[in-house]
Amino acid sequence: MHSQIRPDRSHFNRLEIQPFNAMKHEIKFIVAGALIAAGAAFVLAAPVAENWENHCQKCHGADGKGQTKVGKKLGVLDYTKAADQAKFTDAEAIKTTTEGAKDKAGKERMKGYKDELSAKEIQELVAYVRKFKS
Ligand code: HEC
Repeated sequence: MHSQIRPDRSHFNRLEIQPFNAMKHEIKFIVAGALIAAGAAFVLAAPVAENWENHCQKCHGADGKGQTKVGKKLGVLDYTKAADQAKFTDAEAIKTTTEGAKDKAGKERMKGYKDELSAKEIQELVAYVRKFKS
């Protein structure tokens, strides 16, 4: 009988601490979830300038002029020139970036990026290409 009246410390402690711990867990899950979501978004859609730098700059140049070692060797267009920009349509630009381009002998000149970039990213890159024209 006596034990029922006496306050049981451990019982109170558990009552007080449990909701707090549960909340801490919840916050951890929310933070982890947000980080995973942010990471996934990053993998799925990198900013266009970053994609250009990582995938295209080597040949087409940071400035779009194509005056890089590989760009010169392959004879890529100068995207700052209106005359060069007029040589392809947006649809062709999307097709080339998606599927790549081969020369007449079937040798690859530019690889396709359909496995690495989403359709949206490719579309953004084509708009980026157009912006080099002054
Ligand atoms: C290995 C060098 C190389 C890389 C890397 C490269 N390209 Fe190209 N790109 C070329 C060559 C060469 C051509 C011309 C293909 C042809 O003969 O039709 C070309 C053509 C293009 C075209 C069609 C218009 C034109 O200039 O003939 C677009 C648009 C284009 N590239 C965009 C990109 C984008 C966007 C990336 C990055 C995702 C990229 N390229 C990466 C070499 C490259």
